Amino acid sequence: MILPIYTEGQPVLRQVTEPILEVTPELRQLVTDMRQTMHNAKGVGLAAPQVGKGIALCIIELKDNDEDIAIPFMALLNPRITWKSTGQNNQGEACLSIPGIEGPVKRSKKIRAKARSLEGETIELEAEGFLARVLQHEIDHLNGILFTDYVPKSKLERRSVSPYPII
Ligand code: NI
Repeated sequence: MILPIYTEGQPVLRQVTEPILEVTPELRQLVTDMRQTMHNAKGVGLAAPQVGKGIALCIIELKDNDEDIAIPFMALLNPRITWKSTGQNNQGEACLSIPGIEGPVKRSKKIRAKARSLEGETIELEAEGFLARVLQHEIDHLNGILFTDYVPKSKLERRSVSPYPII
């Protein structure tokens, strides 16, 4: 089922999410629905607050024939960043919850993160490049942070079709 995507101004996007303590059938269904919603919106990442749920869950997936770019589907429960490189880069971002707006965001080039899977396993990720950026953006969503918080208003641009993947 495709869910409505909440946009900036709705309070759930500004809340720190609650940790997930158990995997229920409802949670599995939410992940399935979020994946369908993300595909439908042509997004690469989606966090639970973006569909109105204040819980620490995000999904990411990027289908691409180029293995260097492709990101396998992942549902991350209670993800947190455990290490960030001091080295940063600056790249344009766009978000499904802030339609039509893009801007450059400085983020760590490399990160390590920990999360739980739907199967209850611990996931340890070491990421760089675009995946590192997507993870930082999604984990920010779980802490009530939007990418525009980092961008001076003068650097935000309005464009109906973003050249950047929407995360
Ligand atoms: Ni986003």
